[in-house]
Amino acid sequence: MLIVRIDILTIFPGMFSGPFSESILMRAQESGALQIEVHNIRDFALDKHKTTDDYPFGGGPGMVMKPEPVFLAVEHVKELARQRGVQPWVILMCPQGRRLDQALVERLAKLEHIIIICGHYEGVDERIRQYLVDEEISIGDYILTGGELPAMVLTDAVARLLPGVISEESTLQESFRDGFLEYPQYTRPQDFRGMKVPEVLLSGDHEKVRLWRRKESLRRTLMRRPDLLESRDLSPGDLALLKEIEREMLGG
Ligand SMILES: C[S@@+](CC[C@H](N)C(=O)[O-])C[C@H]1O[C@@H](n2cnc3c(N)ncnc32)[C@H](O)[C@@H]1O
Repeated sequence: MLIVRIDILTIFPGMFSGPFSESILMRAQESGALQIEVHNIRDFALDKHKTTDDYPFGGGPGMVMKPEPVFLAVEHVKELARQRGVQPWVILMCPQGRRLDQALVERLAKLEHIIIICGHYEGVDERIRQYLVDEEISIGDYILTGGELPAMVLTDAVARLLPGVISEESTLQESFRDGFLEYPQYTRPQDFRGMKVPEVLLSGDHEKVRLWRRKESLRRTLMRRPDLLESRDLSPGDLALLKEIEREMLGG
């Protein structure tokens, strides 16, 4: 079984204890599919005050994360990995990086060992980005205080794809897995305050249910994320369903 290891480097290790000890992230670790270790970058600071930030050269607001503790922390983790014969992939969480999407998560879930650096303050010394990092990843076009929440988002998204963590069937049907948004889901009761579950889902006819779900998945994608349809080659079956949806939308 492939065991994925994620080492997270942060100056706020305490932020991870809650999210990593609940739900899927906990289950992934318990199942043995995922090993997570959180390291305090401060432990690698060189001075007695354990300084991890300093003023920016050239002036300006805020502080910048110093290179030495981050380089030392990454080198420490890499050395342990080298002894196991593994070459980790070093990621910097960064609003200027490639935007995280499901395709990127799928690629990362195939790696054996990931090191995630969480920035803070005004960001990190440019030499970390240039000489230490393999890939910069953003979780969206907005600025957070630090890379800890983005690292948790990334870890969660990777963890749920690892074999045995959740059923493969449920991950395969989720939004973005095949390039479309997921169909609507219902559970009991069948009739809640007069709001009814679509009849077809109660029919027991698996083929009809499959077709309805495919069509609703396409409808959702067309209504909410038409860009996802533009970037794909659609099967003749999907094209026929889309035509039906367009006719329905025009009242035909
Ligand atoms: C306040 S931000 C620094 C922003 C930086 N001054 C800039 O303009 O690009 C501090 C740290 O939070 C993390 N961060 C903030 N927003 C992020 C996002 N959208 N995606 C990934 N990481 C983010 C990064 O690690 C970043 O170094």
